[in-house]
Amino acid sequence: MNNPNLKQQVDSRRTFAIISHPDAGKTTITEQLLLFGGAIRQAGTVKGKKTGNFAKSDWMDIEKQRGISVTSSVMQFDFDDKRVNILDTPGHEDFSEDTYRTLMAVDSAVMVIDSAKGIEAQTKKLFQVVKRRGIPIFTFINKLDRDGREPLELLEELEELLAIESYPMNWPIGMGKGLEGIYDIYNERIEFYRPEQYEGERYIKLTNGEIAGDHPLKEKSIYEDVLGEVELVREAGDQFDLEKISRGDQTPVFFGSALTNFGVETFLESFVDLAPKPHAHKTIDEEAISPYEEEFSGFVFKIQANMNPNHRDRIAFVRVCSGTFERGMDVTLGRTGKKMKLSNVTQFMADARENVEEAVAGDIIGVYDTGNYQIGDTIYEGKLKVAYEELPSFTPELFMKVTAKNVMKQKSFHKGIYQLVQEGAIQLYKTYLTDEYIIGAVGQLQFEVFQYRMLNEYNAEVVMTPMGNKIARWINPEQLDERMSSSRNILAKDRFDQPLFLFENQFAMRWFADKYPEVELKSLM
Ligand code: G4P
Repeated sequence: MNNPNLKQQVDSRRTFAIISHPDAGKTTITEQLLLFGGAIRQAGTVKGKKTGNFAKSDWMDIEKQRGISVTSSVMQFDFDDKRVNILDTPGHEDFSEDTYRTLMAVDSAVMVIDSAKGIEAQTKKLFQVVKRRGIPIFTFINKLDRDGREPLELLEELEELLAIESYPMNWPIGMGKGLEGIYDIYNERIEFYRPEQYEGERYIKLTNGEIAGDHPLKEKSIYEDVLGEVELVREAGDQFDLEKISRGDQTPVFFGSALTNFGVETFLESFVDLAPKPHAHKTIDEEAISPYEEEFSGFVFKIQANMNPNHRDRIAFVRVCSGTFERGMDVTLGRTGKKMKLSNVTQFMADARENVEEAVAGDIIGVYDTGNYQIGDTIYEGKLKVAYEELPSFTPELFMKVTAKNVMKQKSFHKGIYQLVQEGAIQLYKTYLTDEYIIGAVGQLQFEVFQYRMLNEYNAEVVMTPMGNKIARWINPEQLDERMSSSRNILAKDRFDQPLFLFENQFAMRWFADKYPEVELKSLM
């Protein structure tokens, strides 16, 4: 479609996800961002789980119970002439492959860390997925209003555990009860936590790195301490390097307290400034399609099924990669060549005052689907005829043996499993010799959705026997010897008949590696 403002609109997009370990403050910070963007009017709106604010919608029961809602999957608002899209990455028990796949649809990520806990397990996993994509990662170290770890120690941990350079954009002046504010290195100012204690001034400009003239803060010992620390990181630490940031090799680090709304606006201002605009996406032919390409294209990165139990509707989440989406437009679904009309499409403008009918590269649209789309599918307008790179598969960690409850219903059981596997809802394996079905997932929720959909869409009741956590590692088929299988590992094959071992634990895997040093054990992403 010919859109004379395409470039300007695309350049204003900032599409990102927040990655964190549960309880680090992702929800709280998201709410603050939405408040700044005018997308919500009161805090507590996003946290549907506790407040029940989202219970109005008629999603499928399981989604209701879990408090998952498509409404909060993508949140869009305007700030400083930029249009910001936040993609939700559910944590806790809602964690699934969709969480990882969502990270394939963003241009940058924000990592929220609890200042008392540092890098936690889930943060690390999500970080690694983002890092592999080589996209910028911004860090927000949260909960400064509580006593936490020393900032220097936190930066060291970042570098050691995540192997990424860090650059402090600001530096805390005290913490917990003694929190005075932040020394804002990037903006050369101090931002006060309790402005009322400093004659109501929220910021004071710095001259040569110091407050000029007299100031009550200068009488406190913490002031000198912070000057010393800032000097130390300036001299011994890494230099701010936008090139490195844009490759994901350096992370700008912000400190703040989401709960008391301190430092969040400063973060947001810098973020929209430094975070990248939508980038070109690679196709399977290694070509890159520019976001400014006039013809619309995009790929499906997530499918949310059964919004309404009376229909089998699903929503396919599409990342727009080029051009302009317009309601009612005709597109081609690349995999099947089928022509589709995009008339029933959700856009995620949380602010109801604006009724936007258009989306451009960088935006996410939710296409109503009656079963046509699969994860990874490309749709395009006109003659563009692109196929975007396949989305990676992620190494599952949880496994279940699965059988049909009613042997008379084998046919619908198999049909259901194969379709759900194709769609990317679950991964399928078989025991190597006996062909028993094993399904794998990265989060428990995937099993529940699988069981529910098997019953409701395929009329197949399934029996699932938990096998617990396993470490899945693929091996070269030529190196396979069936005697390698033992009580500590299960030999299986994936749906492409590639062999893999499901190890009971790290110990079992190390034992195997010691015994068969020549066998390379490979994981997916
Ligand atoms: P999540 O989405 O990452 O899981 O975290 P969420 O925002 O739900 O925050 C987890 C808990 O941490 C919440 O407390 C929240 O109020 C608190 N929290 C978030 N940011 C800050 C902060 O800057 N300072 C302090 N002191 N606490 C913070 P909760 O008691 O578990 O929940 P709630 O009952 O307050 O909602």
